[in-house]
Amino acid sequence: MNNSSLQLTNLRCEYKVNPIGIDALQPRLSWQMVSKERGARQTAYQVLVADSTDGLDATEGHIWDSGKVSSGESIHHPYQGPPLRSGQRCYWKVRVWDTHDQPSEWSTPAFWEMGLLSPFDWKAEWIGPDLKEDKSSPQQCPMLRKAFRVEGSVRSARTYVTSLGLYELELNGRRVGDQVLTPGWTSYDKRLQYQTYDLTELLQEGENAVGARLGDGWYRGYLGFRNNRNLYGDTLALLLQIEITYKDGRTQHVATDGSWRSATGPILYSDIYKGESYDARLEKALWSRAGYDDSGWSGVRVISHSKEILVAPPGPPVRKVQEIRPIRILKTPKGETVFDFGQNMVGWVRLRVRGNAGDVTTLRHAEVLDKEGNFYVANLRAAEQTARYTLKGGGEEVYEPHFTFQGFRYVAVEGYPGEPSLSSLTGIVIHSDMTPTGGFECSSPLINQLQKNIVWGQKGNFVDVPTDCPQRDERLGWTGDAQVFIRTACFNMDVAAFFAKWLKDLAADQNEEGSVPFVVPDALSKVFRSQPPGGGFNGFGSTAWADAAVICPWTVYLCYGDRRILEEQYDSMAKWVAYMQKQAGEAYIWNTGFHFGDWLAIFPESNPLIPPPRTPNDLIATAFFAYSTSILEQTARVLGKKGDAKAYGALLKKIKKAFCEEFVSKRGRMDSNTQTAYVLALMFDLLPEGESPKAAKRLVDDIRKRGNHLSTGFVGTPYLCHVLSQNGYLDVAYDLLAQETFPSWLYPIKMGSTTIWERWDGIKPDGSFQDASMNSFNHYAYGAIGHWLYSVVGGHDVDPDAPGYKHVLIGPQLGGGLTYARTSVDSMYGKITSDWKLTEKGFRLDVAVPPNTHATVRIPASSVDHVTESGRPLSGAEGVESAHQDGKWIVVEVGSGDFIFEAAKVS
Ligand code: BGC
Repeated sequence: MNNSSLQLTNLRCEYKVNPIGIDALQPRLSWQMVSKERGARQTAYQVLVADSTDGLDATEGHIWDSGKVSSGESIHHPYQGPPLRSGQRCYWKVRVWDTHDQPSEWSTPAFWEMGLLSPFDWKAEWIGPDLKEDKSSPQQCPMLRKAFRVEGSVRSARTYVTSLGLYELELNGRRVGDQVLTPGWTSYDKRLQYQTYDLTELLQEGENAVGARLGDGWYRGYLGFRNNRNLYGDTLALLLQIEITYKDGRTQHVATDGSWRSATGPILYSDIYKGESYDARLEKALWSRAGYDDSGWSGVRVISHSKEILVAPPGPPVRKVQEIRPIRILKTPKGETVFDFGQNMVGWVRLRVRGNAGDVTTLRHAEVLDKEGNFYVANLRAAEQTARYTLKGGGEEVYEPHFTFQGFRYVAVEGYPGEPSLSSLTGIVIHSDMTPTGGFECSSPLINQLQKNIVWGQKGNFVDVPTDCPQRDERLGWTGDAQVFIRTACFNMDVAAFFAKWLKDLAADQNEEGSVPFVVPDALSKVFRSQPPGGGFNGFGSTAWADAAVICPWTVYLCYGDRRILEEQYDSMAKWVAYMQKQAGEAYIWNTGFHFGDWLAIFPESNPLIPPPRTPNDLIATAFFAYSTSILEQTARVLGKKGDAKAYGALLKKIKKAFCEEFVSKRGRMDSNTQTAYVLALMFDLLPEGESPKAAKRLVDDIRKRGNHLSTGFVGTPYLCHVLSQNGYLDVAYDLLAQETFPSWLYPIKMGSTTIWERWDGIKPDGSFQDASMNSFNHYAYGAIGHWLYSVVGGHDVDPDAPGYKHVLIGPQLGGGLTYARTSVDSMYGKITSDWKLTEKGFRLDVAVPPNTHATVRIPASSVDHVTESGRPLSGAEGVESAHQDGKWIVVEVGSGDFIFEAAKVS
């Protein structure tokens, strides 16, 4: 008999729903169970893969049948059938057995489709426009086109496409796909992504035409401050292949080759930092349709460029995700007309305008207005982020830029014919299209705004790579920022595949010594090669930045149960630790090379009364050497590399010993006495047995001495509140969180921020700005407090021994005068919630635990007898497996289900 109350949903392959064009040779399959019953668990599963949906139901034609496999695991099952071919479509379904060995119904079918797995699959040739160009400056964007015939009725058609530079594709006058900034940004010399699109519906019998526009993008546009361009190459090119399968079984290829045509068009230039200039009078109407006369166009050049580097995108594409209406139009004291979108956002503006041919409307973008209320762009440095639109005249014109994006809340409009209204501009939000997974809300409106700012920081800075900022002439994949924020990012959105992609570039860009670049993809060492900055600064190897190589894969493993990312990154992780070991030598103290240190920590001049020191770089470097080694030891254990695990364990001991001898006095005082020094030592468990309380006390003394203020920078801040709450100072952590004066998380909120700032005092209390040379208002690093909000205030955490929330840890820690917090995470297994509130009777905690997981729930109460579940004593409650007291907590073990725990107030 089937268990009909058990259903299977959310079938995913490599984190995606029905992906096409993937290149994982053993794609991993995951599913979720839905069941109203408590304690629902999978005990076995069966996966069936076939070449058609009909085939799934038939008894023959199967590609792979796993058979009934005893397993409680419902995520990341690698396909284990015969090798998969390029372009092969596989349909699959799954069923599971419950705890009574009853099978579920089969799931509804899902599919995946392979991309091009070998360079030899590419019949296409690289082509570039045969047009005159001045490669030293932004040029008119080229258009490439080709007409072709379709002879018969089409069963299916795909196109595989990529470019040097960015591309936008059209077929028969329609845009292909909804991705933007394709092919994305990777370490182009080593890995270049191609996209796969389904063209079946876009083709027509008879004449067809395909057209692509190219833009400079990261490949040859301005990149990496200092007005550098052409970092990867100076020639734009397209590689495209259409594969048509007719209903009668014939196949046809259309591919880039020497027969294509090229021309320039309306885009005078389009550049990531600079923005775009578009002259609508130069549009070539119907250029991507059949029948267009391209006899006046130029030819193309066939270009020699590798096809060995082509890869399918593991991560989500960048898309237009949201639209925002402006909230007001204002006139600044200087007389500028400025639209306020009410939110610092990333993307661009859609312009609606009517006027005469040749009228020019200019849109300039800024994050903030200055103290006087004028438009402020000094912090953008060389990034013009300006869109210029020249009208063609004759009715309403609607314009959006193509190969650029801006970071802004305000848009200054010049040259708009007539009076612009609120409907003249629409904000288009773009980012990597990650599924939102987290929710956090509590009784403090300021903290809720903080959470919103964190999420907006993530949206704006997850644009194919995790960037530091989205507005000034930088926008680079800073490794330090990424490792600092990744844990928070994993709560807010599904970032597993996003990071899997970026980590492949990190490994690809690691140098021969195993050192890791400051930024990934490594654009900066290209800049430094032509303009050496001196001072031992070569773009590689800064502590806490390069440790992204180890921290990021480990975090993805913890949050998504993704063991393969550890397998794939293991060499890269090990190389980085080996590099540090070499630097540290026999003394196990790493005191060489350039480091950013506790970047943007509160400098002494902020308060002359407080003794100044900075956390020494060798202390930070040695602490992270230990931390990465400890993660690597755990990784080796997970992967069954026992010898490695032992060796890393032994290394860790030596580092810890050296650390204490070098940086900790006999009375527990740490070198420099900074908050960050104590935070790192405590968080990374570097102190000798029994010494932690002293260190925690010194940390707290410093915070109290500063009037409940932090002094930490990028390195110490992410761990600060964790260290406090883990060492008996939950109240101090809440005091820091609730602090509204500089430096604190809520100070920028009080100053009206809608994103996380780069600096604690981007805008000073008197309304003036921090140094314009480095003052971004959209930098996610300090948003790393999100981890503490979710895991301590909300009480959600993962168990490293059962990662991916297979074993859910729930245990909100109340404080800070909060009266409720509602927290949820859509895990690989389903939605986990923890909603707590203070009630008249005492305390109530609503918990949802998804099927096929179990949870340990910690409830603040003084006795098991004071706690009920759905009104019943814990001992009789269905699904409650055990309950016991642990100090101030009642610890309850449960399987899946929705539970309501209440604890009576004890007077
Ligand atoms: C970036 C950072 C980065 C830093 C290196 C800055 O310019 O914006 O966030 O980590 O340089 O310290």
